[in-house]
Amino acid sequence: MKHFHNRILKETADGSHTLFFPEYNEHYHSVHGALSESVHVFIKEGFDVAVKSFAGGSKDDRKVFSILEVGFGTGLNALLTLERSLSLSIQVHYLALEPYPLTAGEVSRLNLADKVAGGKLATAFFNMHNTPFGETTEISPEFIFDKWQLPLSDAPLPPDTFRLVYHDAFAPQLQPDLWSKEVFAKLERSMAAGGVLATYCAKGSVKRTLKECGFSLTHPAGPEGKREMTRAEKKTNPDPGIAGPVEK
Ligand SMILES: C[S@@+](CC[C@H](N)C(=O)[O-])C[C@H]1O[C@@H](n2cnc3c(N)ncnc32)[C@H](O)[C@@H]1O
Repeated sequence: MKHFHNRILKETADGSHTLFFPEYNEHYHSVHGALSESVHVFIKEGFDVAVKSFAGGSKDDRKVFSILEVGFGTGLNALLTLERSLSLSIQVHYLALEPYPLTAGEVSRLNLADKVAGGKLATAFFNMHNTPFGETTEISPEFIFDKWQLPLSDAPLPPDTFRLVYHDAFAPQLQPDLWSKEVFAKLERSMAAGGVLATYCAKGSVKRTLKECGFSLTHPAGPEGKREMTRAEKKTNPDPGIAGPVEK
């Protein structure tokens, strides 16, 4: 069991902050750019793709687009998702898991709120950090936020729910249990048919495990410094014997 403490703040190549564990030589984000990596992997190749296949309702009849984040950490992915969802007529329900939350001091030193939306979402960013674990908070009418202080293994995830999963755990070398067949099978069960799991990781063993759990994979180009990333889609897998039209 690793102990995730003694984090230090670091500036990445695009000027945005990340955290670093010297003990494990592990960063929360790419040193080539925390902000640019999150925008690329989770927003452009994750959120935007998943939202396209989701039929949003009108303002009066909003459909809920559920997102699960494995590892809330600095809150950067949640902040970017909030920014993106404000321009769409959908309602996002965002559930973030984080067993090792940042301290208030760490959050206050991050420059991420200033780097996104010209700082206009800073209040929302700090609300997401300050809201108690286990409480549902309306960050905006478009964005309902939940945060559980639980490791993924203990999280009672509802079945067939999430249209998008941000799998943003530490690297497989550091936390192999978060890239196992058991974990991906659990995530697959919690996802809606056609839902998308986005991750920065494109390691061969991870791809094989995702495939074994029934996902269809695509490998978009990665962010700066990485050849590719992974997008895994939960197959719709209709069973015509049960769900198809009945022929007379
Ligand atoms: C690579 S960092 C990414 C964090 C975050 N998405 C961000 O942008 O700052 C991995 C995160 O996963 C969290 N984590 C570690 N073990 C976990 C577990 N078993 N279940 C869920 N999250 C976990 C860590 O505390 C850390 O915040």
